Amino acid sequence: MKNLIQSVLILISVLIAAKGAEEVIYAQVGERVILKPPAVDKYKYMYWRFGSPQGIQLAWRNYLSGNGIDKENKFAWSGSSLVISNIEQNNFGTYYCVTSDPPSDNLAAKQVKLVKLNVTNPSSPLLPGESLSLACSVEDSQGDQKPNIYWQTPNGQKIKNILVKHVTSQHNGKWTCVVKNGENEKHTQISVKVLGELLCMHKYHYSSFPLYLDLSPAFSSTQYTSNSSRITIPCSFAPDITWEHFKAKDIQEVYWQFSPKIPSGVISGGPQRLFTLSLQDSMKWNVNQHTDLKTQDPKKGDLSLTRKLGKEEDRGDYECIMKFKGGKILNRTVRVEVLQIISSPRPELISGQPLNLTCSTGNQLPSDVQLKWSPPKQSSLSPPIPDPHPAKLTIPQVHTGDEGEWECTLWQGSKQLTSAVITLKIEPKLSVWMLVIICSAAVVVILILILIFIFYRRRQRKMRHLRHRLCQCKNPKPKGFYRT
Ligand SMILES: *[C@@H]1O[C@H](CO)[C@@H](O)[C@H](O)[C@H]1NC(C)=O
Ligand SMILES: *[C@@H]1O[C@H](CO)[C@@H](O)[C@H](O)[C@H]1NC(C)=O
Ligand SMILES: *[C@@H]1O[C@H](CO)[C@@H](O)[C@H](O)[C@H]1NC(C)=O
Ligand SMILES: *[C@@H]1O[C@H](CO)[C@@H](O)[C@H](O)[C@H]1NC(C)=O
Repeated sequence: MKNLIQSVLILISVLIAAKGAEEVIYAQVGERVILKPPAVDKYKYMYWRFGSPQGIQLAWRNYLSGNGIDKENKFAWSGSSLVISNIEQNNFGTYYCVTSDPPSDNLAAKQVKLVKLNVTNPSSPLLPGESLSLACSVEDSQGDQKPNIYWQTPNGQKIKNILVKHVTSQHNGKWTCVVKNGENEKHTQISVKVLGELLCMHKYHYSSFPLYLDLSPAFSSTQYTSNSSRITIPCSFAPDITWEHFKAKDIQEVYWQFSPKIPSGVISGGPQRLFTLSLQDSMKWNVNQHTDLKTQDPKKGDLSLTRKLGKEEDRGDYECIMKFKGGKILNRTVRVEVLQIISSPRPELISGQPLNLTCSTGNQLPSDVQLKWSPPKQSSLSPPIPDPHPAKLTIPQVHTGDEGEWECTLWQGSKQLTSAVITLKIEPKLSVWMLVIICSAAVVVILILILIFIFYRRRQRKMRHLRHRLCQCKNPKPKGFYRT
């Protein structure tokens, strides 16, 4: 009686377990999955069967760790779990885990439904403007609960169906199809390559942030330089994109062109072509216009131009252009601004003179760029430089302590963009007075000398005159002699 009750209870629990234990696994053709054993880990024999609890036997094992497998390459034991590799179309269906002891030869302790997942994977890269459609579906005709299926965009947005008519580089990246069925979540990542993505390596941090080579003018960047810091005009593509991807899209021409700018901000003249990339196997830059900007190794996807120091005439717009068959163009503009310090009236001053120092690129700085002055160490300005530092410093009276290098730096957050330096020479005021005194003294001395000279000459002339008269009186005999 007791045994019977126990058996019934066990049977009921097994039935409940069997009913509630259907697990769903979503997988694509070619994937590998692991079917976990039932939670009750007490058995004499365990069988994995396909189709029904009495169906095709795939694997067995006993409590003494003896085991056997049907198709060695397809199925394998991993502990008490069954591993299915390289899933094929006929592997989708329901798997049953049957255990004996409790003896339930025809009742599964667990059943696992392997459901086919179909995720489209765009194989070839896209050019901006082409269309992108992504599909994600499950094949589960008799499924009672339909899973919730959606996509996550590269920047984490959730969307249901995907058909992008005109892709931009924003669509570049990893897309995730999420199939959600209660607690069960399956994430499938696919990667979409849009050939427009370029990277801009920042010279100071060596971290890269994406810039986009795009037909849209919204993506543009400004690089700052000065005659005492490096110039970098960045253009490179993402590390996972190669020239082969561009060649597959019939790339025809790659070149740099430059539109110089005069300080007032007006573009002067038409664009000049600086470099053209020869797209044959040599992959070398040909120089079109004399320039001392240096190119990098284009084979590594780095199309940047650099030089050790910037120059005033670097100011302008640099365009990296890629032309494809059919007239499609990818272009990227990098604006170069040159920071300069202008000293008014001059960089050479006399202590006490007023001075205006202006640090500027000739254009308004964006609101996220801060300017910072670094006066020479011994300089003590009064009034001190107000915070935030203005572009124009007005110093009512310079001191000799202000002599030396004045640096003006542009910052974007904690990132230094560029810095310019000017060297001021300040003569002490005292020396000027001393100069005046010395000059006057010299003048006085010269005057005295002249006076002495004149006086001396006069005296000499007088003396000669006297001697002359004395000599005239020498010849006639003095009268006094006759008396004696
Ligand atoms: C997957 O879905 C796509 C689009 O819905 C379809 O064209 C393709 O035939 C499906 N692939 C398989 C293997 O079912
Ligand atoms: C590059 O793009 C800009 C903005 O879209 C456009 O005005 C310009 O004409 C393009 N340059 C070339 C050479 O196509
Ligand atoms: C660099 O520019 C500063 C003004 O910003 C100027 O005073 C200095 O003479 C320039 N140096 C050279 C080497 O041209
Ligand atoms: C400095 O700037 C102020 C205000 O713009 C101006 O009035 C003054 O004449 C300037 N001084 C010099 C020496 O340039």
